[in-house]
Amino acid sequence: MNNQDIESLKEAIEGSPDNLPLRIMLAGKYLHFGRLEEAEVEYQTVLNYDSNHIKAKEGLAEVYFRRGRYSGVIVIVEELMARNKATERMMVICAKSLVREKSIDEAQELYEKILDENPDFEDKELDENLRMPSFDFEEDDEFDEDDPFGFGFTNGPDDKDFLMEKPSISFKDVGGMDKLKEEIDLKIIKPLENADLYAAYGKKVGGGILLYGPPGCGKTYLAKATAGEIKANFISVGINDILDMWIGRSEKNMGYIFEVARRNTPCVLFFDEVDALGASRSDMKNSSGRHVINQFLSELDGIEGNNDGILVLGATNAPWHLDPAFRRPGRFDRIIFVPPPDTVSKEKILEIIMNEKPKEKLDLSKVIEQTKFYSGADLKAMVDIAVEEKLRIALKTGVPEPITTNDLIVAAKKHHASTREWFNTAKNYALFANESGIYDEILKYIK
Ligand SMILES: Nc1ncnc2c1ncn2[C@@H]1O[C@H](COP(=O)(O)OP(=O)(O)O)[C@@H](O)[C@H]1O
Ligand SMILES: [Mg+2]
Repeated sequence: MNNQDIESLKEAIEGSPDNLPLRIMLAGKYLHFGRLEEAEVEYQTVLNYDSNHIKAKEGLAEVYFRRGRYSGVIVIVEELMARNKATERMMVICAKSLVREKSIDEAQELYEKILDENPDFEDKELDENLRMPSFDFEEDDEFDEDDPFGFGFTNGPDDKDFLMEKPSISFKDVGGMDKLKEEIDLKIIKPLENADLYAAYGKKVGGGILLYGPPGCGKTYLAKATAGEIKANFISVGINDILDMWIGRSEKNMGYIFEVARRNTPCVLFFDEVDALGASRSDMKNSSGRHVINQFLSELDGIEGNNDGILVLGATNAPWHLDPAFRRPGRFDRIIFVPPPDTVSKEKILEIIMNEKPKEKLDLSKVIEQTKFYSGADLKAMVDIAVEEKLRIALKTGVPEPITTNDLIVAAKKHHASTREWFNTAKNYALFANESGIYDEILKYIK
């Protein structure tokens, strides 16, 4: 194998550009010689011809791995695994990518899977980073059929334990996001408040809405504000309250929550970080994980009881972990991208955050120029940095000085936008796993 081989392969391909086996061979040679960029181009070209080409995906994963683009590796290998097409080598580089991205739990699950299939498997990096967990059940942690949540009462949980008190925030506390608020008003608030009118036209109120987007951009916050805005009942469900290592208990927990909602319509059921129920997550692939997902889907479908008057709201930073089955009609059939705030929203968010702080008259547009890719949470972090700096000085002088435009600009330069990494990962999904165009909004946004 030498460079001349490469030249003759290139010539051959010029003659028949759609000969994919030739391209795969050429890409393999590039990879062998460490010519990673050229290998990547070649694999991408094959994928443009045939987006399901396994060898090209494997090759691309190798290239990404060597170039340190670990989220790309993870996306590709997860997809291969979902189709049962992942080789041991692919799983190994995926496990290593997960380790290097600090997703230790997921790395561990995958590592166990590798060991299941090949008990003799050894690898220094993985062995060192992923010690096997030891299960150590507490004695009093036994499952009581009549008290599945461990609340200590025996007649099942009380509805009150689930219904949320009205949060103190409402839409006026959410900066900007006017289009989103309008959409939520139209799809959640109005239908629930006017169920009679809807019924008059034979339209049922129900279904699910999924909010997705980078972390810190207000999904949870917006859901809470919706609860504050609405006259309906609101139940906020932490997936971890449902998931339980005792087989069978998670499904029961899921069932209880929907029962409570049905007894208290109109009601919004909010599942935050719903991706924790994602069927493509390795920890949900065992059979008990599968069961709770199925239970969730059949509850959503209204098989277990009538869902009239129940709206399900989900939020996630990782929509790609959700099984496509979640998106069928009647389930999460309306999907809303919550992008980082635009300039107008940023200004409103900053006004809200700065509201009761000592400050000079601020030129917010100057500050906002420095906040590319900032989420709402990043804006908060920036203000925190400025406040800390002011405090540091005030502690010396004993005089509290107002925050200035320049203080905020200096703070913005110190804080690194947290959504960038999300967009890098999201872009991979949008490019390689964009079935039915669900991530078009992401691609549009990146442009
Ligand atoms: N539009 C907004 N208006 C006001 N505050 C916001 C807004 N978006 C985000 N924030 C602030 O950022 C924090 C993080 O947002 P959060 O809803 O937890 O993000 P997500 O659930 O999308 O990860 C919120 O608690 C809130 O203080
Ligand atoms: Mg959240």
